Amino acid sequence: MQTLAIIKPDAIASGKAGLILAHLQEAGFTMNAARLVRLTLPQAEAFYGVHKGRPFFAELVAFMTSGPCMPLALSRKDAVPHLRTVIGATDPSEAAAGTIRKLYAESKGRNAIHASDSDENAAREIAFFFPEGELAALGS
Ligand code: RTP
Ligand code: MG
Repeated sequence: MQTLAIIKPDAIASGKAGLILAHLQEAGFTMNAARLVRLTLPQAEAFYGVHKGRPFFAELVAFMTSGPCMPLALSRKDAVPHLRTVIGATDPSEAAAGTIRKLYAESKGRNAIHASDSDENAAREIAFFFPEGELAALGS
């Protein structure tokens, strides 16, 4: 089972990408694909389209386009729910001790990492960043 993580622009800018990757691998995830990308505004709006109309939407897409981010296709047993547990609550002040957001996030908006919230969204989000041919070439 696969899920999608994105190491967000705040964590790339603060030099935490390596620590976050190590944390994910220690949590049992296998990295099936990775990229370093700078999202355009239309791409960020499309990726977070489910949140269009929410009060934080403009701030969210501005943040996600503010610098490079690193999408990762990850697999392990129960990948989607397990990754949500490993990253912690959206707001780092509410995240459990030892979670990635507790350790590395700055705020509810600048919260270090994204994770898919369902198997259906994981499949859609992996396809958003990684064309099938690229996954096949990687053996993923
Ligand atoms: P994500 O989708 O990035 O994994 O985060 P999430 O499921 O924990 O949270 P979600 O409700 O899907 O919100 C998406 C992202 O929008 C930003 N946000 N800011 N300022 C705010 O009140 C607020 N609420 C949400 C966060 O960057 C959140 O991760
Ligand atoms: Mg979400």
